[in-house]
Amino acid sequence: SVSEAFLKELPKCEHHLHLEGTLEPDLLFPLAARNNVTLPANFPKSVAELNATYNSFANLQDFLNYYYIGTNVLITEQDFHDLAWAYFTKVSSQGLVHAEVFYDPQSHTERGISLETVTKGFTRACKRAERELGITSRLIMCLLRHTEPSACLELVKAAAPLIKDGTIQGLGLDSAEKPFPPELFTECYNEAKSLNPDLQLTAHAGEEGPAQYVSNALDLLHVTRIDHGINSVQDPELLQRLARERILLTVCPLSNVKLQVVKAVKELPLQQLLDNDVPFSLNSDDPAYFGGYILDNYLQVARDFPHWDYSTWAKIASNAVQGSWIDDKRKQDI
Ligand code: HPA
Ligand code: ZN
Repeated sequence: SVSEAFLKELPKCEHHLHLEGTLEPDLLFPLAARNNVTLPANFPKSVAELNATYNSFANLQDFLNYYYIGTNVLITEQDFHDLAWAYFTKVSSQGLVHAEVFYDPQSHTERGISLETVTKGFTRACKRAERELGITSRLIMCLLRHTEPSACLELVKAAAPLIKDGTIQGLGLDSAEKPFPPELFTECYNEAKSLNPDLQLTAHAGEEGPAQYVSNALDLLHVTRIDHGINSVQDPELLQRLARERILLTVCPLSNVKLQVVKAVKELPLQQLLDNDVPFSLNSDDPAYFGGYILDNYLQVARDFPHWDYSTWAKIASNAVQGSWIDDKRKQDI
């Protein structure tokens, strides 16, 4: 096995991080008070109670119910900036050098917060992270798949100026996976890509959903990356394709345990992915909800795969760099 110091120093890239999922309980309550947001009557009343709740999610939907309540306390551009900035400062001490981060505009626009307010706040924090911490980033707008595809298409159209000018550099698809297969969003993905050919495409698939969702995301949405994707191992031909086409799976170990996708990190098919030469990165997903940031995920995987040596870890880190949406010069620098 490898040392903690080595894993800490290893230059890390994160590709699966929901900015709204970095809202810590100890920021949630003060923000609710400051913004006069009333939490539901049955919502936990203290940081301790909320942490306890976060420790026993039954599944993805159970988590999402809390996650969307949490987003309601974010109101001003400064709130969005402060949230993302807190994330960047935390992971800066964990060896993170590059982050491709998701946000969910619909969870804010449906409450009357404008797309511009949210995007400006997050973008300001991203620029500041590069300036002050040397962390480069990409901003990925996600469509909420539990909403009507027509509502998602509206969002894409509203975001057109931000997609065209490169403020939004990627498109993703998240929220409840089943029964909302990727093909429902074909028009949204086509429209977004037509606005800017440089737009990068990804989608959550194969977390709770089947391998077929992964294949369909590749075939019908033309994504070049898959978020989670662990159920791809159900389909050997798909594994070969992922390896051949260098499709990165953005695996989230602590998330998968907390949402009861697997019982323990050691049950994740990471060795199988390595053996099949399928590239994957290790990520935190919603660190405030799942009990760990990027380094915590690396450390847990190292504990659960103790036979991996330095060269295996170097391979994982290198696949994460190569799978990042950055130019060759930045890859070299990392
Ligand atoms: N899966 C789906 N939707 C999400 C997630 C996730 O892991 N995190 C935030 N929204
Ligand atoms: Zn996710």
